[in-house]
Amino acid sequence: MPVITIANQKGGVGKTTTAVNLAAGLALRFRYSDNKDQRVLLIDTDPQMHALMALAFGDHSAPSQESLAALLTQMPAPSIQGMLRVAQYHPNLHFIAGNRTALTEAASRLPGLLNKDMRLSLAIESVLKDYAFIVIDTPPNPGDLLTNTLVAATHVLIPVETSYLGVTGLQSLHETIENVKSAYQRDDLGVIGYLPTMVDLQRAESQEILDSLSSLFGDLVLKPIHKSADLAYAHSAHMDIFNFRPPRRREDGALRSSSRGTQDYAQLVETVMKRTEFARIMA
Ligand SMILES: Nc1ncnc2c1ncn2[C@@H]1O[C@H](COP(=O)(O)OP(=O)(O)OP(=O)(O)O)[C@@H](O)[C@H]1O
Ligand SMILES: [Mg+2]
Repeated sequence: MPVITIANQKGGVGKTTTAVNLAAGLALRFRYSDNKDQRVLLIDTDPQMHALMALAFGDHSAPSQESLAALLTQMPAPSIQGMLRVAQYHPNLHFIAGNRTALTEAASRLPGLLNKDMRLSLAIESVLKDYAFIVIDTPPNPGDLLTNTLVAATHVLIPVETSYLGVTGLQSLHETIENVKSAYQRDDLGVIGYLPTMVDLQRAESQEILDSLSSLFGDLVLKPIHKSADLAYAHSAHMDIFNFRPPRRREDGALRSSSRGTQDYAQLVETVMKRTEFARIMA
């Protein structure tokens, strides 16, 4: 089943907003369609735990030995089953409990561990079949946590903030992806798309950057996420956009909304389902 890592080593580009809303949107999309028993798992590998706070504020953390950090560092790895929790607003959206201090420590211990880049991949192996999609949020810096998420992934989704600085810095992510592909014979690990975020068409700069992204990456540039007060408010209210501004359901099961933030992420849900050939996998 598709494992989608949301990555960009630049900070504040919309990784967490995208991870949370893609995961919640997919979960809701399944509940509104004929695939009601399909589940989604969100894994937050950023010690800041902002993605987990949006899913279950107050219930997002656990003692270190029952959190993601233990999966990444303990030998043998503990069972993942006892660490899975259900998101507050979506019964078919699960997450692995986190622990800020333990995950920060785990990041510094990883370099000395056997299989240091494969720990996440090995930890989730036993639950891959239980989830239609796994979405992984990543920290804004290179390192073993990010490498673990790329080794575990089948696809990488790259949010790019539409500012002049937004397109810089992609080179080092591309190098990391290429290194993972060659070190682990993962030719199948593909970029699912570049997602322009915080697009403000009132500013000439936004359009110029969309054009330059298109000339660099062609069809891999996805329909953009616009700057939206709803997305920012939802984030500070510890909610996903589908809970904050609920969508309507279309006949074909797709989600639709007059809130731009909800509509943009509903569109991303459809694109991700298409590009991962989810329909074919389920057939
Ligand atoms: N489309 C948008 N419109 C308005 N605000 C947004 C949008 N996307 C994200 N934001 C806001 O921008 C800030 C940064 O977004 P987010 O936390 O998703 O980025 P990030 O890449 O995960 O950051 P970090 O690198 O620190 O983890 C947040 O306050 C978020 O609410
Ligand atoms: Mg983040």
